[in-house]
Amino acid sequence: MARFYITTPIYYVNDVPHIGHAYTTITADALARWHRLIGDEVFFLTGTDEHGLKVQRAAEAAGLTPLEHADLTSARFREAWRLLDISNDDFIRTTEERHTTSVQALMQAAYDNGWIEKGAYEGWYCVSCEAYYGEGDLLDDHRCPIHKRPVEWFKEDNYFFKLSAFEQPLLEWFESHPGMIHPTSRRNEAIGLVRQGLEDISISRSSITWGVPVPWDPKHVFYVWYDALINYATAVGYGSDRDRFDAWWPVVHHMMGKDILRFHAVYWPALLMAAGETPPAHEYIHGFLLVAGEKMSKTAFNQIAPKDLVPEFGVDGYRYHFLRDQPFGPDGEFSYEGMVARYNADLANNLGNLLSRVATVVAKQCHGVGPAPSPASKLAAIAEAVVADATAAWARVAPNEALEATWRLVRETNAALEAAQPWKMEPGPALDAVMGDALEVLRIVAVLSSPALTRASEEIWRRIGMAESVGPLDAQRLPDAAVWGGYPGAVRVDKGEALFPRLKASRA
Ligand code: MSP
Repeated sequence: MARFYITTPIYYVNDVPHIGHAYTTITADALARWHRLIGDEVFFLTGTDEHGLKVQRAAEAAGLTPLEHADLTSARFREAWRLLDISNDDFIRTTEERHTTSVQALMQAAYDNGWIEKGAYEGWYCVSCEAYYGEGDLLDDHRCPIHKRPVEWFKEDNYFFKLSAFEQPLLEWFESHPGMIHPTSRRNEAIGLVRQGLEDISISRSSITWGVPVPWDPKHVFYVWYDALINYATAVGYGSDRDRFDAWWPVVHHMMGKDILRFHAVYWPALLMAAGETPPAHEYIHGFLLVAGEKMSKTAFNQIAPKDLVPEFGVDGYRYHFLRDQPFGPDGEFSYEGMVARYNADLANNLGNLLSRVATVVAKQCHGVGPAPSPASKLAAIAEAVVADATAAWARVAPNEALEATWRLVRETNAALEAAQPWKMEPGPALDAVMGDALEVLRIVAVLSSPALTRASEEIWRRIGMAESVGPLDAQRLPDAAVWGGYPGAVRVDKGEALFPRLKASRA
């Protein structure tokens, strides 16, 4: 059995969860669910990033201690992920003791190996990015290129990580691990960043106290980004359970937006090398979800939260839209009308209609009992091709293509029903063959769509009588579960209400 370790970035607690954070988390969740479905042992990690100046200042402004503040704001992410049926196995907070232990152990190893030394630093700092910028990276008036807000001049004593020594090792690593960074355009970008030349970087702060203390000099705390990156190691036992760490590392799959490529593709592998550990095996980088052409941000007042959309679209409608309509990689524009259109076309019309037609005919003309499929059905070959396409698409992190393939099967089956007109047929073997095939498709579609449609897939499974006759959907494993002929027949089909009532675009 293969292991599949997948992570999302740990989100800053001073942000309110929005559809951009949710995009990464849902994509990681769908991949985790797909890998459970193919029988992998999965460990899916998400969490919150709770140290640093930004959080310290936000807490001060709210009249709370940083931890009190983080307790409240971290909970918002857990709530958002519950709302969206996120199946994470762990939720890490960087304020947890296990994380302090792990950060200190990893940094101590890099220090003992001679890669960290003391120095003084001054430079332009963006508190929103928690990062120093060179003069040349800034917009005019000394504004941050990401947040477009003024940066601040910082001067402090701190420890430096000798990143410059890792230019060659990193380039060699990228060369010998061509599949590490996906897509290739982002891999090229990472190589470009290293080729431009790497400067040693400051990894501790003596001007703030809200962080993990440097073990060999506790007047300093680690720079929040270095603390944060180590979460991925902490959660699988770094610093406390070496066997567990070795079981999951380095074959990890880090998923993230393009804004944090430099930290993950340059700083993180170099730090791991410095500590004598292996860089992460996979990094999947996606683009930004834009609202009216802009990245969402608190300062632009253009944030949309999952809870603004779930009441109208349901969890399934929400998840399906982002997985199906935002290809993994490029930037994408969020469109409410697009979301309604997708819901109506694929969920209400195609899948919802298929289920309701089948259940209606079975109720009226088959005494409510679903017949078995025919082995020689034309739909069997289509199903087989669709399963292969969906499997290949998930393997290359293309959920939109996996779902598109699955809906090909739904559309072909609707077309087959329109051609056969079972609602006009007399009860008998010919009708049974048509209905058995359609039920078999619904069974396969429930399995294939389950990483996206967490609830509707279960409901289809139940209504077509699979839960009662064969067992729970989450016990199904591919490839067996999608082999044509799995629908047993002679099982009760429950007609039920419309699974996806049609929506009208109600908002501008
Ligand atoms: N705390 C750091 C990450 C540390 S990981 C060791 C951080 N946090 S964040 O809250 O700003 O989250 C950034 C991530 O959220 C992005 O990389 C991306 O995964 C997701 N997104 C935030 N806004 C987004 C969009 N508008 N569109 C798509 N993804 C977005 O950076």
